[in-house]
Amino acid sequence: MNTAPTGPKQIRALIGNIPDPEELYGRDDFIEHLWKVIEGNNVLLLAPRRFGKSGILRHVLKRSHAGFLPLSFELEDVDSSEEFVWRITRELLVHDGVRRLLSNARKLPASLMGWVKDTFDEAEFEGAKVRFKEQIREDWREAAKRMLAELEKADETLLFLFDEMPRMIERISEKRGDESAREFLDWFRTVRLEQKDVLRRHRFIVAGSVGVDLVLHRLGAVAAFTDFARLPVEPLDNAPAGQLAEDLAASFGITWTPELSARLFALIGSPVPYFIHIFFSQLGQLPKASRAALTLDNLDQVYATRVLGPTCRRYFGHYGSRLTRYGKMGEKSAYAILQAVASRNQVSRPALYEIYRKTRGRNADEHEFDELLADLEYDWYLRLDPGTNEFFFRLKVIQDWWKRWYPTSAAAAKSARTKQP
Ligand SMILES: Nc1ncnc2c1ncn2[C@@H]1O[C@H](COP(=O)(O)OP(=O)(O)O)[C@@H](O)[C@H]1O
Ligand SMILES: [Mg+2]
Repeated sequence: MNTAPTGPKQIRALIGNIPDPEELYGRDDFIEHLWKVIEGNNVLLLAPRRFGKSGILRHVLKRSHAGFLPLSFELEDVDSSEEFVWRITRELLVHDGVRRLLSNARKLPASLMGWVKDTFDEAEFEGAKVRFKEQIREDWREAAKRMLAELEKADETLLFLFDEMPRMIERISEKRGDESAREFLDWFRTVRLEQKDVLRRHRFIVAGSVGVDLVLHRLGAVAAFTDFARLPVEPLDNAPAGQLAEDLAASFGITWTPELSARLFALIGSPVPYFIHIFFSQLGQLPKASRAALTLDNLDQVYATRVLGPTCRRYFGHYGSRLTRYGKMGEKSAYAILQAVASRNQVSRPALYEIYRKTRGRNADEHEFDELLADLEYDWYLRLDPGTNEFFFRLKVIQDWWKRWYPTSAAAAKSARTKQP
């Protein structure tokens, strides 16, 4: 199996859009392994945003193995259990075979049966959403559970792909309260456990960017996903990353060399495909003559002035904006911590606690500090070096970006001085 195209390449510049299966580089082994794990387990795909989770899910969806019926759900904007059940029902009813099964089901609650029997076109369906959610409000737990139980009679194993489900759980707790989020998790767990004795059990792949364990910890529901195999999605290996760089270079008319690849990966820190794509989107804008004779110095310059500059700022926006999740004071502490690590490269835990304590004042709390650091670690801003017990930035490009856009006041003053002789 080779997911990357071979021969003359047609390659799309992708900055944030979900890659199609033929656009994926370096995930063959991972996907092969994923399918093995799926035979016997549910799967939790974990990685920071933009590492390539959704691309992998799309591959599973579009190149599904025989015997599975994959159903894909983007859950990032879902903030209630009713909305979740609506999305599932709508998707299930689109599949004729599934619909037939459901329409013959004896145990389906009346609140759902009407929806199965009647046919809607797409537009009517959207309009019907409010009505559906009202009807299902009281008994969504039972209705959805019975619907899923009915579907175990299907010829194929249903494979539910739940992209960004941890974010959905977080949103439910923000919008409807922790109790609603816990209720959902409980429900999801019983759905999985109650199908134990059945031959063809559904499978679930849950993908998430936010620290799922922290969300669960806050809700007191640490056991919610214990029956899931955890698969972390890592940066690419050097060979496929080099191939991606070579193919992108060819598509932009850039004369490329292994030395340029090495420098590009060194600038980023490790080959995360998103940043390779961003880098080339900028290289591609150089004048034709520069593209034909690109030097290492050109690369450094494009990195400093464009990749880290205002042109690309919005591609990184997420890294700053997601800190608002910590609340006003937590956000301030997170900034201070990230600034310290960005400017000093490695900072010990006690030193970071001091920084946290100063921004937090009398409200400083060791437990809150631990949670904050763990969250920054989960999102791969930071990593702990167990040898020295010091924190450092997981990706050089994000560290450089922090330094550029959120300088410490000392660094800002110094750069102002050097700019105005
Ligand atoms: N295997 C890959 N090969 C090439 N580009 C990739 C790959 N995985 C991710 N990308 C790039 O990263 C971006 C984000 O990928 P996506 O799968 O949406 O990540 P996530 O779901 O983890 O946020 C894509 O737009 C594309 O630029
Ligand atoms: Mg995604």
